[in-house]
Amino acid sequence: MSSTVEVLTALQNSFLGQAIGQSNHLVGATSQVFHILGFVSLLAAVIFINLRLLGLALPNMPLKEVSRQAVKFIWIGFFFASTSGFLMFLSAPTLYYANPAFLAKITLYTLAIVFQVLLYQRVVKLANPGKFLVWTNVLLSFFLWFGVSLTGRAIGYV
Ligand code: HEM
Repeated sequence: MSSTVEVLTALQNSFLGQAIGQSNHLVGATSQVFHILGFVSLLAAVIFINLRLLGLALPNMPLKEVSRQAVKFIWIGFFFASTSGFLMFLSAPTLYYANPAFLAKITLYTLAIVFQVLLYQRVVKLANPGKFLVWTNVLLSFFLWFGVSLTGRAIGYV
């Protein structure tokens, strides 16, 4: 048994893992609702800022101001999606670990966080980013965050 599976089995058998795994279905349903609220907030804010980056929404409002207002909804959504996602994961860690869609999701999720912190947040704070930076930001943010969502959706089918 690999050490990762050992750790996940210990997590599954832990008090929290058992409590969530055996909890009333309302706990699972509530986590799913917070997961949906979280990723809708995150994806909607990314779409909104990207429309401004492309000059398709609020072109007269400074990019810095639009992103200052909207970026907080990316992180609020991220917080709710990540905490509720972890709770859903805790209901059957070894099962999800064996699911290739879940592994693809967590890989994209990790890349999305690195991209968000190292590039996206910096570009949207620029007064007038160049075409290359705008398109890199728009295409990578859509690929990574919608990739996390699509692989999340695929988990139930794989
Ligand atoms: C913050 C970015 C995230 C986004 C945008 C996201 C998005 C999604 C989407 C769209 C679904 C499908 C919902 C459905 O079928 O009703 C989903 C399901 C799921 N996500 Fe996430 N998610 C995120 C983070 C996480 C994290 C960090 C974890 C775990 C550590 C996680 C674990 C799950 C699980 C376990 C499912 C349910 C799969 C199933 O049993 O069908 N998610 N996610």
